[in-house]
Amino acid sequence: MEKRLIGKPIATLINRVSKELIQEHELRPKMVLIQVGEDPASSYYVKSIIRTAKRLGCVAELLTLDKDAPQEELIGTIFMANQDPDIHGIMIQKPLPKGFEEHIISEKVDPLKDIDALNPINLGLMQMENEVFVPCTPAAVYYAMRYYGIDPQGKSLVILGRSNVVGKPLANMMLWKRPFANATVTVCHSRTKNIEDICRNADILVSAIGIAHFVKADMIKENAIIIDVGINEIKDASGEDIFVGDVDYEACQDKALAITPVPGGIGRITTAVLYSHLVQSALISGNINKNVDELINLKFSEIHEK
Ligand SMILES: NC(=O)c1ccc[n+]([C@@H]2O[C@H](COP(=O)([O-])OP(=O)(O)OC[C@H]3O[C@@H](n4cnc5c(N)ncnc54)[C@H](OP(=O)(O)O)[C@@H]3O)[C@@H](O)[C@H]2O)c1
Repeated sequence: MEKRLIGKPIATLINRVSKELIQEHELRPKMVLIQVGEDPASSYYVKSIIRTAKRLGCVAELLTLDKDAPQEELIGTIFMANQDPDIHGIMIQKPLPKGFEEHIISEKVDPLKDIDALNPINLGLMQMENEVFVPCTPAAVYYAMRYYGIDPQGKSLVILGRSNVVGKPLANMMLWKRPFANATVTVCHSRTKNIEDICRNADILVSAIGIAHFVKADMIKENAIIIDVGINEIKDASGEDIFVGDVDYEACQDKALAITPVPGGIGRITTAVLYSHLVQSALISGNINKNVDELINLKFSEIHEK
């Protein structure tokens, strides 16, 4: 196995599957991104999503609401998108301004257009191992494991972070009774005691807490596999803004069996997963019986057989 688990080949493969399906079935997948206010990090993410749309042959349209817009206006915008047959995916940009009730907003997105998998219906069905959209970042971790042949079955897998978008859904997925899951899962959070000891026991450590360089070399087991989901902006020695992960990559790389970099690791795969969900939604709305996830996993298996 490679030491440095980069995301690019995985994102490229997933995007290839999406592109092939778009061309084969003459799809015109369209998503709307709904942003309330102008959070700079969210605007940056939106721009990168829109750029990718053009490359893949999809349409991504940004709808912006004033930061002082009432919650009802956002819900009305979601309902219009739910009813528009030309729209296959809806993404609500986070964070929402103060006063918006995220759990209520998430429920309003049609589960079939919920490509970011925030609707509690999709989250519940995912837990039951149904074929539904799963949140994109945990899916990116899952694909990284499949691609690099990291089978967590029976292994001690520790997740740092219990957010609804990363930690909790990933913990659920890793408990699935299917290939590249079946792990023994521990989830840590800000109230966890003896977190260092728990990390040192992990065969696979996934960090998603949002604290730069939180995981040090003395917190990992020899030959552990380290998957870093964190994206944190810090200043480097020269005062430049840079992005780093939750893991101190330089310090951990020798001790780890394999490790994902930041940037260039899981984040890169996440956008490709989002578009694969959009394509799946367009296929469903066109009554075309193809499963994008199966096609992606098939491509991964072909690579392993080579
Ligand atoms: N690569 C990608 O595509 C991608 C996607 C999404 C997010 N991210 C990145 O992943 C990181 C996490 O994102 P998120 O949205 O899941 O964050 P979040 O909602 O802020 O959740 C952070 C989690 O970390 C826990 N935590 C905070 N401080 C801790 C500490 N000192 N010890 C142990 N646990 C601690 C929190 O515990 P409590 O629950 O107790 O507060 C919480 O569960 C961020 O850096 C974000 O930028 C990356």
